[in-house]
Amino acid sequence: MSTAAPPQFNPFDPSFTETPYELYAALRDDDPVQYSELLCGWVVTRHDDVVALLRDPTVSSSVHSATPTPVTEIELQRLAEQPRAGRTVVMMDDPDHARTRRLMATPFRASAIEALRGRVHERMHAALDVLAERGRTVGGPSTRGAAVPVDFDLVEDFAYPLPVEIFSEMLGVPAEDGPKFRHWTQCVARSVDPVLPDDERDECLAGLDEMCAYLADQAELKRAHPADDLMSHLVHAEIDGERLNDLDLMSQLVTLYMAGHEPTSVLIGNGTLALTRHPDQLESLRSDRSLMRNAIAELLRHDGPNQFTRRITTRPTTLSGVELPAGAVVYAGLASANRDPRFWGDDSEVVRVARPDASKHLQFGAGAHACLGSHLARLQAEVAFDAILDRLVGLEVVGEPVVATRMFLRGLTSLPVRATITPRP
Ligand code: HEM
Repeated sequence: MSTAAPPQFNPFDPSFTETPYELYAALRDDDPVQYSELLCGWVVTRHDDVVALLRDPTVSSSVHSATPTPVTEIELQRLAEQPRAGRTVVMMDDPDHARTRRLMATPFRASAIEALRGRVHERMHAALDVLAERGRTVGGPSTRGAAVPVDFDLVEDFAYPLPVEIFSEMLGVPAEDGPKFRHWTQCVARSVDPVLPDDERDECLAGLDEMCAYLADQAELKRAHPADDLMSHLVHAEIDGERLNDLDLMSQLVTLYMAGHEPTSVLIGNGTLALTRHPDQLESLRSDRSLMRNAIAELLRHDGPNQFTRRITTRPTTLSGVELPAGAVVYAGLASANRDPRFWGDDSEVVRVARPDASKHLQFGAGAHACLGSHLARLQAEVAFDAILDRLVGLEVVGEPVVATRMFLRGLTSLPVRATITPRP
């Protein structure tokens, strides 16, 4: 414990944008349950407190449970304008949460997701084939047929588009409509930003409306002509005579696009950068692929996308000796918890692909709202990293990586690389 006043958490501070990890370390040491005037809520940064909060069956995920503050008032106003956002499974409490989650769960189970491996593999390798062809075209006729180094953006050209395309295919929407979702998911992601000019917000909400209209048509089609896809499952799912109504169905579809897209892309982008910065770890993984699953857990632990998730207390709750009242808004620091040396030991700041307890990371959350898409995210990352290790020879970063930080999500939006892309193994 240092004698200087603890730093104040401020997600708008440029040093937070650059790297939040030093700030997290200082908060964990000096003020692990800090009240933020800016957020009108508590920022919790130690591992054990974050786990206790997420596993507490009495906490709420709904902003309606909070004692009103200027921040919650703005959110409630936005929810009134866009009721769909409030019906997302992420913000529901039981019994609605348990019921909705049960109706969605089957296609996200490990065995159902494993069955998609071949299709995910095909999409990822097809994306690399296109990039390899770009290298041959740029290299000119003398290089025709030969593999030459190619410059591309590992995030923009590979990690970012693929999760949306793969999810659209899983959902069962026609392949030619896939690109529309890229625009729509960007609209949805931006529409939740609290500081957005009015004209941009209008544009984003128009995109969201278009997306929902399109999905409603698709749902209608699948109702009449069921197929072996996720949309057909969701429109027909029934437990104890209950089904998802239309508003809930649209809300969950939009949630799934949102929840799955950016974090998966960030896992692949941040993970690749971390491996190029730790060449010994890259070599360990290259020579022993049985480490892949653990390595992905470790990359998520070390620099995963989710910085925070939010809960509301419904009774007085004590964390690290600080008593929070009922109705308190609490920001649970997932990324900070994942580096807490009290839990992970003295080497918590470094990447170790063979770290024995890496799978205990909190990037997928914990408790009742733990990530529904974790098997899908892991499958995509496994196939992506295998493809990167197998086909990107001499991979090097050749430009400045660009990181975008919002309070809840942080990750690479651009990673310029050079590599020789070999043919499929
Ligand atoms: C690396 C990728 C991913 C990460 C790090 C991640 C992380 C998370 C986290 C932390 C939560 C809990 C939120 C909370 O506690 O309030 C969550 C929930 C959720 N995730 Fe993921 N996610 C990823 C990928 C996916 C994918 C691919 C999908 C599906 C397409 C998905 C669907 C969901 C859903 C539906 C929920 C809400 C579950 C509930 O509220 O019961 N996620 N995710």
